[in-house]
Amino acid sequence: MKGVILAGGLGTRLLPLTKITNKHLLPVYDKPMIYYPLNTLIKGGIDDIMIVTGGNNAGDFLRLLGNGSDFGLKHINYTYQEGHGGIAAALSLAEHFVDGEKIVVILGDNIFEDNIESAVKEFEKREEGAKIFLKKIKDPTRYGVPEIKGNKIIKIEEKPKNPKSSYAVTGLYMYDEKVFNIIKTLKPSARGELEITDVNNAYVKEGTMKYSILNGLWTDAGSSFESYYRANKWVAEGLISIF
Ligand code: G1P
Repeated sequence: MKGVILAGGLGTRLLPLTKITNKHLLPVYDKPMIYYPLNTLIKGGIDDIMIVTGGNNAGDFLRLLGNGSDFGLKHINYTYQEGHGGIAAALSLAEHFVDGEKIVVILGDNIFEDNIESAVKEFEKREEGAKIFLKKIKDPTRYGVPEIKGNKIIKIEEKPKNPKSSYAVTGLYMYDEKVFNIIKTLKPSARGELEITDVNNAYVKEGTMKYSILNGLWTDAGSSFESYYRANKWVAEGLISIF
């Protein structure tokens, strides 16, 4: 299976920290933010990885990560997102790289304690469909939130005012090759983006979306100062040690 790390966007929620750099290059305690999702993929057994970046500082990813040899990789693939069309638009740029295989997609600001190796192996064996990873949190209104009936997701709402469950859809997704055709059918949301939640809802509708609930800590370090601070604190205090 191949891996895609989405590390574009303008990082406006972390201004002014992101005025002169991409948020995924900011430190999370002693390492740049992108090291964490990169490490999650590598520990999960994924070694063919593409980084989708954008903005004014895309070249800095090359200087930081090079060909991946510091991480035991033979090679890293990069591509560049013009503008900021949303997560699904960024993912569509990886179509050539993915070339009909199944993929793991991870957001460049998401930090996971869980090891995903067994989930990767399990998904590899599946014939078709998608999988998302949920985390129970106090206030999921800033996230994609699933409505669950029995043990099935019946719908995912993006940033709902009245969440239908107490789970956030985290920034880790597994898809079959159909994902790129689904993205081609999407229309921009109210915030002008192609939403990953719309991609996920297409799989929900098709009846091929599965989910797991994460046991370990999770945060999206780049979405607010509070979560950025929390990520730094967890790593500094040794609550998350994934390297
Ligand atoms: C994005 C997704 C959202 C998901 C979150 C996880 O939100 O749209 O569904 O819960 O990542 O980090 P965004 O960061 O674009 O607001």
